[in-house]
Amino acid sequence: MHQEVTLIATVAVSFVFAAVLGYVADRLRLPPLVGYLVAGILMGPFTPGFVADTGLAGQLAEMGVILLMFGVGLHFSAADLLAVRGIAVPGAIIRIILATLLGIGLAKWWGWGLGAGIVFGLSLSVASTVVLLKVLEERNLLNSASGRVAVGWLIVEDLAMVLALVLLPALAELLGGRAASDAAQGAGLPLSLAIALTLLKVGAFAVMAIFVGPKIVPWLLTLVARTGSRELFTLTVLAIALGIAFGSAEIFGVSFALGAFFAGVVMSESNLSHRAAADSLPLQNAFSVLFFVSVGMLFDPSILVRQPMAVISALMLIIVGKAIISFLIVILLRYPIGMALTVAGGLAQIGEFSFILAGLGVSLGLLPTDGQDVILASAIISITLNPLVCAGAEALHTYVHARWPVLSNHYGRRRHEALGRELEKIRALTEARERQHQLEMQQLIETFPLFAKVDEHSQEELLLLFRPKSALPGERVMRKGDRGDGMYFLSSGAVEVRLPGGAVRLEPGAFFGEMALLSGGRRTADVIAIDFCQFLVLERRDFNMFTARHPELRAAVSEMARERSQMNALNAKREAHPDQREVSAQGQ
Ligand code: CMP
Repeated sequence: MHQEVTLIATVAVSFVFAAVLGYVADRLRLPPLVGYLVAGILMGPFTPGFVADTGLAGQLAEMGVILLMFGVGLHFSAADLLAVRGIAVPGAIIRIILATLLGIGLAKWWGWGLGAGIVFGLSLSVASTVVLLKVLEERNLLNSASGRVAVGWLIVEDLAMVLALVLLPALAELLGGRAASDAAQGAGLPLSLAIALTLLKVGAFAVMAIFVGPKIVPWLLTLVARTGSRELFTLTVLAIALGIAFGSAEIFGVSFALGAFFAGVVMSESNLSHRAAADSLPLQNAFSVLFFVSVGMLFDPSILVRQPMAVISALMLIIVGKAIISFLIVILLRYPIGMALTVAGGLAQIGEFSFILAGLGVSLGLLPTDGQDVILASAIISITLNPLVCAGAEALHTYVHARWPVLSNHYGRRRHEALGRELEKIRALTEARERQHQLEMQQLIETFPLFAKVDEHSQEELLLLFRPKSALPGERVMRKGDRGDGMYFLSSGAVEVRLPGGAVRLEPGAFFGEMALLSGGRRTADVIAIDFCQFLVLERRDFNMFTARHPELRAAVSEMARERSQMNALNAKREAHPDQREVSAQGQ
């Protein structure tokens, strides 16, 4: 059935099918992702017609997960993660344990071994970040306290799964499976050593992410942004996201997705993070579609006939069991009912990690292939049903609120308010940082009306290009006859341009040093500070680059230089005829 299908065919057909079926789904009032999943099923090897390369599609899907997690990281600061730890950490851990135990119970009932039960249970215990994000985004909940808690909870779950993925090969034989191949991590090592090694690697990764990343990444972004090339900037953002994702998977053994998430968190500390987010968004969207398509491709519909009861019970566990567990955990931790319902609904599905775990389980001889098919089928169905489940949770909340308003309003209010305050503080801090940036731009334009000519994006770039410099009264800022190293913008203080015909005083808002840059020649005059001065200097290379892209700015500067030269020539002439001595100041 398989035929040679190229990368281009896979991507092209995926996009076309996904676009058409996504549209159809939307018309049917279903979430578009249902359309993407169906597109995948149609392109998969189990349905007639076009068959895409599933291996290739899987890799493209991984790209989608990487970019998506990177996007989440960009909007999720480390402070956010710390703020929700009180609920996310115990919640995720308790839920994984309980859901896994339930999975083991189900597997035992079907006569599978303990190893199969563990893989099966773990696969059902972790929810998909991609799906959760889509649902939260559609409901405009991504920035709410509940949304932050749900995302933080999933991050902890993902971290736990990373550990599980590393430990499974080491434990495989003990659980009745095949010994892991030598290529697998942890193979051949005693268990305690394998665990220690994993923890060490994850620890090293955390140290890099917390201490080294926040220094290097923002610096790198600023460096590239200063070149003014938009394309290079976007490229750098992607290089950092994919580079960190791939590098951390290779070196530290953490998943691509987790690496990408931390790349985003690290980048969110930069002033340029909003630009990075805007630049990577279209790619995120395109590749996350490929994620759903490739999930659909793996689906073998015959499992619904072969093992209907297994699929139904797995689904019950995912949707009902997990939702009840999450709900109870949140309530027991004394958070409000609304939050408990949002978390319970949003996390009542399974996704990317479940496929990876199931695949590993099969390759280790722990999970029967039927088990993998059941997991896939329940993933697709639970993902499709998830928007409905979330709407149900919301309706339930409305009902509870109407029926028991006091309970709904008061239960868990204290903790919720405390969490809200903390998140609000973090948001206020981020906003203050952004406002500061806006203010700098505003001041720039107010002080130097010249820059009102260029668009906001370029004004921002100028802020990056400027090098601050200062001078003391009496200090020579420029020497006549020197090579021009840059153009100076006077932001405070005053300078005097010493010309043969007399001195010209320049005040804040004026610029000087443009003539040598424009002509490529030497400085035409001495410039002396006559007060404590502060300058913004645009270096020669940056000046040439920036004005080449803004001819209107170059024209304005050239016009001023021309007027000044004319004035100087005139004054020089008057100098020759002392009866007409007067120097007029230009350039204020
Ligand atoms: P540049 O020749 O690079 O270095 C000396 C600077 O003095 C020159 O550029 C101008 O920016 C500035 N300058 C020269 N003549 C005048 C003038 N008449 N009024 C104001 N500034 C001047």
